[in-house]
Amino acid sequence: MARFTKPTGTQDILPEDQAYWAHVLKHVTELAQRYGFQRLDPPVIEHTELFARGVGDATDIVEKEMYTFKDKGGDSLTLRPEFTAGVVRAYIENGMQVLPQPVKLYSIGPLFRYERPQAGRFRQFHQFNAEIFGTPDPLADLEIMLLAWDVYAGLGFTSLSFQLNSTGCPACRPGYVEALKAHYVANDAHICEDCRRRLDKNPLRVLDCKQPTCQPVIADAPKISDYLCAECQAHFTTLRQYLDSLNRPYTINHRLVRGLDYYTKTVFEVWAEGIGAQAAVCGGGRYDGLMALLGGPPQPGVGFAVGIERTVLLLKSQGVTVPELPTPPVFIAYVGESARLQAVHLLVAVRNAGIGAQMAMSGSLKAQLRQADKRGARLLLILGEDELARGEVTLRDLSQATQETVRFDDVLAALRTRL
Ligand code: HAM
Repeated sequence: MARFTKPTGTQDILPEDQAYWAHVLKHVTELAQRYGFQRLDPPVIEHTELFARGVGDATDIVEKEMYTFKDKGGDSLTLRPEFTAGVVRAYIENGMQVLPQPVKLYSIGPLFRYERPQAGRFRQFHQFNAEIFGTPDPLADLEIMLLAWDVYAGLGFTSLSFQLNSTGCPACRPGYVEALKAHYVANDAHICEDCRRRLDKNPLRVLDCKQPTCQPVIADAPKISDYLCAECQAHFTTLRQYLDSLNRPYTINHRLVRGLDYYTKTVFEVWAEGIGAQAAVCGGGRYDGLMALLGGPPQPGVGFAVGIERTVLLLKSQGVTVPELPTPPVFIAYVGESARLQAVHLLVAVRNAGIGAQMAMSGSLKAQLRQADKRGARLLLILGEDELARGEVTLRDLSQATQETVRFDDVLAALRTRL
């Protein structure tokens, strides 16, 4: 029979990788709590229309990358390709606008995009996502960026690059788009087919084009910073002043537009070397129109998401060591059938006392001792039939290379003093 393989673009997160995952997830969770974010887990499936409207019909995500299906009741559902639209939906549906503002929420979990798999790009991947609702103040943008900084600084990375831009708002962006289109029309002979198409459907995305032919056209393109309205300009200036004052280095990137339609004003990404073609380990920005677009109160929002796979890849490629996951310190070995049952009783008692323990399921004493060694046990309890008849067990401390006989009733206390 043909063997099953995992679907393209998915991965098994194997036991040897779990220490990295546990380290990153513990770190981001602690940070989110330290910053005053509360956890919200939206469902993995949402109504397709939520993403079509929220992320934008003309985005790559909605046009090409969603896992969409009809359920047995005939509803069109989609495996979430990102968190933001679902979190905004949950905020509206649960009437969270009555909570003290701003509301700060974080989420962790899997997402799905039908993308071309490459190093660091998967079809099932995970994010740590954080959103702040209810304030237009650039302090909220700062808070989100500080959190992003702390995610990476706290994991031990130093050479990451923060890319920053403002994409304006419905008042000033149309003027910029007009100028951008005029520039592209004037350079029509030099642009790629994709950009010609983008110009109609999603004009800002031309700035993101990787085709060599388009690079000179992008370099000469008008810059959105010259078209921002007074409000967007003031917002951007204040955010930059905060970042400067806190000594957080960033690069203004006029080409940074991001692949989701909801952004207004601030957009940012964190870029890293060494994780393959996909350089962005995190990205986010402000989205002041999304809540109203999804039928909620006209409240502003700002947020970002960290790609966990890319962060783990980066930890590995930079040789960062992470704490090992705990393994049971106690191993119980036995000789003979009656000792075996006693060993099970002891195993249960040790575990009930809150101490990690394992025992062999079969094998000679020698084989059991080898197993204990392979499993990294520190303390070995050996139950032989003679010792048991005397109500005793042998306790061997593998790290100290010492051994003693302990009364059955004293085993837990003896283990505790050695752990
Ligand atoms: P995004 O830039 O699409 O933004 O994704 C954020 C991060 O998720 C990326 O920087 C990357 O690390 C990771 N990521 C995205 N796609 C993949 C993939 N196919 N494979 C592996 N990692 C991936 C958003 O999703 C926005 N919702 C972020 C946000 C929150 N904006 C405001 N609030």
